[in-house]
Amino acid sequence: MQAKSNQWNNNLAFLLAATGSAVGLGNIWGFPYKAGENGGGLFVVLYLFFVIVLGLPVFMAEVFIGKTGKGNPVSAIENLAVKSKSSKSWNLVGYAGILASLIIAGYYAVIAGLVVNYGFIAAAGFGVSDPSTVYAAEVANFWEMTFWFSIFLIASGVVVGYGIDKGIEKAMRILLPMLFVLVILMVGYGAVRGDMASALSYLFSWKAEQFNAGTIQAAVGQAFFSLSIGMGTLMAFGSYMPKDQKLGNASVVVVTADTAVALFAGLAIFPLVFFFALDPTAGTELVFKTMTTAFSEMGLLGQFIGPLFYFLLAVAAFSSMISILEPSVVFLSEKFSMPRAKATTYVILFCFLLSLVSVAGFNVWKDISIGALDNPFEAMKYLADDFLLLLVGTGISVFVGWRLENTINSDATGITNKGLLNLWVIILKWVSPISLLTIWTLGNLQILFDISFF
Ligand code: TRP
Repeated sequence: MQAKSNQWNNNLAFLLAATGSAVGLGNIWGFPYKAGENGGGLFVVLYLFFVIVLGLPVFMAEVFIGKTGKGNPVSAIENLAVKSKSSKSWNLVGYAGILASLIIAGYYAVIAGLVVNYGFIAAAGFGVSDPSTVYAAEVANFWEMTFWFSIFLIASGVVVGYGIDKGIEKAMRILLPMLFVLVILMVGYGAVRGDMASALSYLFSWKAEQFNAGTIQAAVGQAFFSLSIGMGTLMAFGSYMPKDQKLGNASVVVVTADTAVALFAGLAIFPLVFFFALDPTAGTELVFKTMTTAFSEMGLLGQFIGPLFYFLLAVAAFSSMISILEPSVVFLSEKFSMPRAKATTYVILFCFLLSLVSVAGFNVWKDISIGALDNPFEAMKYLADDFLLLLVGTGISVFVGWRLENTINSDATGITNKGLLNLWVIILKWVSPISLLTIWTLGNLQILFDISFF
């Protein structure tokens, strides 16, 4: 099962794998519910702004580290640190990324498991039962949730175990086109049968009263999460990139595709939410409680559209889960020279334990709050998405901007325009670290301690 090569076979492979990674629960589950919680239009505008100004540059920086450092997230940074006569401690950025990836894997698998479970529930139809009661019963059942996430975890482990071209690339070739077709189908349904006008005005109109540090942090955190920045996925995938592939162009393609799917997901979900006069601010339960209400209102048709929707979510989650596992698997197998399959097994076992904690956050440990965070699930999600990703993103940005400046040229990046190259370096050196750290500090003060400055 060991991977024979450590390079993608062709230029398309990076695009497929990185897009498959980026497009996931973050787009279809996360983006709509966060937009709903943070006032719709304002969040969407902030999100798009941050994707362009911070997301794309830091995305490129992370791929750059992988592509030029050639190695797993820790060794790639170490190689570059040696070359640039920087301290070896920069590898902490790689370790922090791997830590984030394990935590994310732990809660991501749980949501994905719930999605798979809901595919079956939706197919069977809700009959007379109320979707809220169904949801409450599902998440209350520790063992059932454990069953579903385990299936998901094992399946993604198998693909990762097969390596990058036999496993990951092959899977993406099938999953990604399927995903695009499914999203378009759902948007089409929303346009024909739902309330598209309300959805559009909700997503693209400005409600300034919602504006606070938490909203900004949510938008940046969501942008980074959705683009798969900050936990080594892009370093790992970048290190498999053929030498002649243009990093700049490839990044623009992936970032554009990811953003398009997030907006499409909003346009698939909100027309149904408004058509059935449901609540857009339901939070993490939006795709479970709210959408199932919509599906059950549709009657028999819902028994077809519903499973289709959850299948779409599961496909998106699966290709992302693979990429979440990749950094720790390559790291482990290279660091301790173990076969890939063995490294994958260890990683999966560890994620299994973390997922148990995360599942407990839904039921047995539901009331154990950690500071201002409601339960262990929320705490893991916060620690990884809003806390670690932004820090690692800052580290990547500073490392590339300040320490690797001399190695940045059109050969390494594929960007021939000098002005653009300089702009990128300025963003990495100044704009991104200053804004990320400010947003990180203000956001944490507000969310953890309820201290707000505006
Ligand atoms: N971007 C994926 C999503 O939107 C999740 C993901 C995959 C991720 N790899 C990542 C998030 C790396 C952060 C870092 O669902």
